[in-house]
Amino acid sequence: MITIYKAKDYQDMSRKAANIISAQIIMKPNCVLGLATGSTPIGTYRQLVEWYKKGDLDFSKVTSVNLDEYKGLSGDNDQSYRYFMNTNLFDHVNIDKTKTFVPNGLEKDSEKACAEYNEIIQSVGGIDMQLLGIGGNGHIGFNEPGLAFEQKTHCVDLTESTIQANARFFESMDDVPKQAYTMGIKNIMSAKKILLVATGENKAEALYQSLYGKITPNVPASILQLHNDVTVVADEAALSLIIKKGEI
Ligand code: GLP
Repeated sequence: MITIYKAKDYQDMSRKAANIISAQIIMKPNCVLGLATGSTPIGTYRQLVEWYKKGDLDFSKVTSVNLDEYKGLSGDNDQSYRYFMNTNLFDHVNIDKTKTFVPNGLEKDSEKACAEYNEIIQSVGGIDMQLLGIGGNGHIGFNEPGLAFEQKTHCVDLTESTIQANARFFESMDDVPKQAYTMGIKNIMSAKKILLVATGENKAEALYQSLYGKITPNVPASILQLHNDVTVVADEAALSLIIKKGEI
């Protein structure tokens, strides 16, 4: 079941998404949150930090597991997803950092890194609420189009366009990550609840195809149609095609 909430703009999307996450934390203080990186959730994290600072939220019993991490990057690298999570959320709230998990980018043995991460997800009791962004091609985490739906955490080769887009952040081409560890669709689908956030016109096609198109590995997020508790919070621009087609 998919419920869609229309937000006016990015700020409104961020506030609505943060409301849903805080309700989860209030209802189950020791919940396991699946967290995401990318530019879309930054405003959501900012809002959560604000509410924490006002005394309205308590992260002390929360556990988190992130979707993905670049292979080869340490948590100190400002391009790593661990660094992103620390600077955008963890450093500003009272979460116990030892209960925040991100795939181990420094583990060279991919099989070991992925098996360990699956083990972590299992040992924390599974994910109560998974936050997701969406790629312009419908990817979630780093599950790019064409990958099998049945996978758990695995190592992916980044697409040439992602590698090129990241190149500007690194001193040399050799330093740019070529691979990433990502939760698979199977891990994501096992979450009890899913919260997908989307903003901007460039997500409109992906969002329409994911929510109303054919369920196919070519649009990874389309599998969400088979999940029984998905909430989508998207701004009008991201929903524009869905609105135009008269779906909502
Ligand atoms: C990357 C991340 C995804 C994210 C996507 C979209 O591929 N691995 O988790 O959803 O980018 O990012 P943005 O929110 O910046 O559009």
